[in-house]
Amino acid sequence: MKREQFSSSLGFVLAAAGSAVGIGNLVAFPVMASKNGGAAFLIMYAFFVFFICLPVMLAEMSLGRHTRQNPLGAYTEIGQNRAWRTVGWMSVITPFMIGVFYLVITVWIFGYLAKSIMGQLNELAGPDSFGVFINSNELFVYMVVVIGLTFLILQGGVKQGIEKASRILMPMLFIMLIALVIYVMTLDNAMLGVKFFLIPEFDKLTGKVLNGALAQAFFSLSLAMGILITYGSYIQKNNNIVHAGKMVAGLSVLVACCSGLLILPAVFSFNPDIQLSTLSESSISMIFTFLPKIFLAMQADIGYFGASFIAGFFFLLVFFAALTSLVSIIEVPVASLMDGKGVSRRTALYSLGAVMILLSVISALSFGRVEMFSNLLSYGGVNKSFFDLVYDIFYETILPLNGFLLCLFVIYRWKKHNLDAEISQGNSTFAGSLLQKYVNFSLGTFIPLILAVIFVNTVSTIFFGKNLLF
Ligand code: PHE
Repeated sequence: MKREQFSSSLGFVLAAAGSAVGIGNLVAFPVMASKNGGAAFLIMYAFFVFFICLPVMLAEMSLGRHTRQNPLGAYTEIGQNRAWRTVGWMSVITPFMIGVFYLVITVWIFGYLAKSIMGQLNELAGPDSFGVFINSNELFVYMVVVIGLTFLILQGGVKQGIEKASRILMPMLFIMLIALVIYVMTLDNAMLGVKFFLIPEFDKLTGKVLNGALAQAFFSLSLAMGILITYGSYIQKNNNIVHAGKMVAGLSVLVACCSGLLILPAVFSFNPDIQLSTLSESSISMIFTFLPKIFLAMQADIGYFGASFIAGFFFLLVFFAALTSLVSIIEVPVASLMDGKGVSRRTALYSLGAVMILLSVISALSFGRVEMFSNLLSYGGVNKSFFDLVYDIFYETILPLNGFLLCLFVIYRWKKHNLDAEISQGNSTFAGSLLQKYVNFSLGTFIPLILAVIFVNTVSTIFFGKNLLF
């Protein structure tokens, strides 16, 4: 069977940007930036995106396009041994498990969208509404809708599903984001937020902050999850990988910036005297607890209906971003099953979907509803739920490990000249360029080194309660 392909380079860029732009850019980034030096954080973040993440991105895309395989197939074909095949397995299981927790968060977002539209904004802004909501039965109704939409997109395949959805959702997302930025700029005291975001405070950039910025950049570009290997396997040979990679990275940074210009002015117009250090670190509490209060407060100016409209608009924006990310992450195991077992897309989707739904339901029940899942085990001196466990193992720990192994694999197993040859197809100026030298050098030296250090420190911090670096 001929492998499916994106119809053009733009098709790939939109799909990959759909994967990259998610809750990370829209919420986690503004929260982190505001607490950690504003524009100084932004500068470091952009630096990491282009100097550390972009080479990894190009490596993943090339590996996918060269092998025309999912990550497991790619590692198996080139690795030629058990050890690399195991790494291939890790690159398929990781996105699957990250998909589990990302699905749960997407369901929450969809629930908030539905409730805003149904006129329940005042309920959402209540003090313990989030805790009540995540343990409610209606959650499962929202879960059915989100899973249904995700499957509908994936069922359509690469061109008619993933690419088509991205072609519709991504431009809408950009327009909605800009419209919201323009709207919040008109609010009282909005400029205080802009100032806060754009004035750099370099002394806030501690080692810990830089580590956070790098982790955020890495996650935000969907690296080390096998996504870009899989999407890369659908890129046409004459498309320019470097150009596409830069576009995706650029769009992701741009959306993160715009989101800073949306969230911070909104926060300051709500409370001009706010001490940002009092805001919680977590993007979850920002999006589900704090923002609904801000939206509700807008009713003083635009009425309850207007405030609900803005809230619904915002949650729709985040929902689009999350949906395209969710699609990309589930496509990895789906493609692996299709390639590996020769089954149809539908069979792959339904069999994996069944397991995923089961695990997502368990995650959703692990916020106090079912004691066994909520207090599953304890490590590093903290009690952890099933959701925490999936998050800690796959997102925090295995992601940097996968990135580290990918760099070693591409440079020392697949070899530099093969990487160069693949990137050069569709890009006649790459060979001999400064970029080529940088990509080869960085992927073989300091990028894997940094990722290895992060990996070791994360294991020590999370599982043994001891941070070795900061
Ligand atoms: N890039 C996404 C974000 O910023 C992260 C992600 C991508 C998560 C794909 C899951 C799947 O939120």
